[in-house]
Amino acid sequence: MSQNHGQWTNRFSYVLAATGAAVGLGNIWKFPYIMGENGGGAFVLVYLVCIALIGIPVMMAEVMIGKFGRQTPAKSAVLMAKASGRSSAWKVTGWGGVLAGFLILSFYVVIAGWAVAYTWYGFNGSFENQNAEQIGILFSELNAGPWALMGWSGFIVLGTVLVVGKGVQKGLEKAVNYMMPVLFVLLAIMVGYAATTGNFSEAVQFMFAADFSKLSWNGVLIALGHSFFTLSLASGIMIMYGAYLPDNTSLVKTSVYIAIMDTLVALMAGLAIFPIVFANGLPAGAGPGLIFQSLPIAFGQMPLGQLFGGSFFLMVVVAAFTSSIALIESSVAWLVENRGFSRWQAAFSAGFAIWLVSLLTVFSLTGAEWSVVSLWGDIRISFFDLLDYITANIMLPLGGLIIAVFASWAVSEEISRRTLDTTPALYRLWQLSLRFVAPVAIVAVFLNLIGVLDL
Ligand code: TRP
Repeated sequence: MSQNHGQWTNRFSYVLAATGAAVGLGNIWKFPYIMGENGGGAFVLVYLVCIALIGIPVMMAEVMIGKFGRQTPAKSAVLMAKASGRSSAWKVTGWGGVLAGFLILSFYVVIAGWAVAYTWYGFNGSFENQNAEQIGILFSELNAGPWALMGWSGFIVLGTVLVVGKGVQKGLEKAVNYMMPVLFVLLAIMVGYAATTGNFSEAVQFMFAADFSKLSWNGVLIALGHSFFTLSLASGIMIMYGAYLPDNTSLVKTSVYIAIMDTLVALMAGLAIFPIVFANGLPAGAGPGLIFQSLPIAFGQMPLGQLFGGSFFLMVVVAAFTSSIALIESSVAWLVENRGFSRWQAAFSAGFAIWLVSLLTVFSLTGAEWSVVSLWGDIRISFFDLLDYITANIMLPLGGLIIAVFASWAVSEEISRRTLDTTPALYRLWQLSLRFVAPVAIVAVFLNLIGVLDL
């Protein structure tokens, strides 16, 4: 087995790094707001089931492909296909992720830009003694015009390009190893604060009492798509990380740890936000601005709120930034490998292209008229919502489907058994879920949605 890339020094640093890629805006920003829009409990339940039955097995499949090939995603998939006597067309397994990652990043940087702005607001005391309405105004003013948004998101794009161009991830990874635990502790403090001062029981009721009458098929698809998004699946990154997997590390166990930690952060974010949302009479379905309209109210009232508020959003920026670096990496690696770009050229070109596409999201947020497009029927949707919807809910589940079929049907059993390296019972369970559960669930959700949308 050729091995021309580095390796994580040990199992612990591998789990931390992969958790760092998984934990991001998806957990802290997206999960609470889509949960709020889709009625709470039933949505959370479907999301948890998707993580357990589909997300974790697909993650294992991706890490397995990387571990076997020890190359970039498309190459690793081809190596594995060939070793199993299959067509090299399976390289699509690696490809789709490049486009998905690029499109995700185009709106990710704008949301990360919001978090940069809020770090500034937090430290400079803008939240002090502000009520829900005043905090709401702060948010709408930020989105009133394009310049501020372009500036904040440009800052993230530039930072990402500089780090990726220079290849200083190593140092950054070390920093993240310290900052992830800080984020975790700050979240725990927020949950504690929300539990004592907010409407905790209503929040718990909202998040964990499953009322399926509140969940549409579209909501089920959003829960499924989010399970891929939050675990960073179908974007090539887990194959990349698998390529660096240290020897003697159980890919099965570590995947479970990573998924558990990721889910824990998401649930904690919900438990921090919804007590404040309900205590202040905010709508749970407020949309993408939810965390920015709720948490600052608490920061403005709690002791040391300026410090906590600034630090909290700073940690969100860090979590988002490490995800941005991972997200741009697949485009950069693709340009270097297939177009002969130097690393700097690739980083700047990808960064510039992402910044251009990010303007679609910026103008969606400012409410520019041209940013709303008409789809079939009378469905009208902004470019931001469209990008988010197409990537998370269509491209990622489709990519996951291809990976599931590839790993469980195309790859020879002998190879997957050896690479996965687990007990016979767990192997069977994994195979069963990828062969049947994941494909049937993904296809069924798509079909139902087509029925619902009446295409
Ligand atoms: N999981 C990340 C989050 O929750 C988002 C994400 C999706 C991602 N695909 C990725 C991050 C690939 C890094 C690489 O915010």
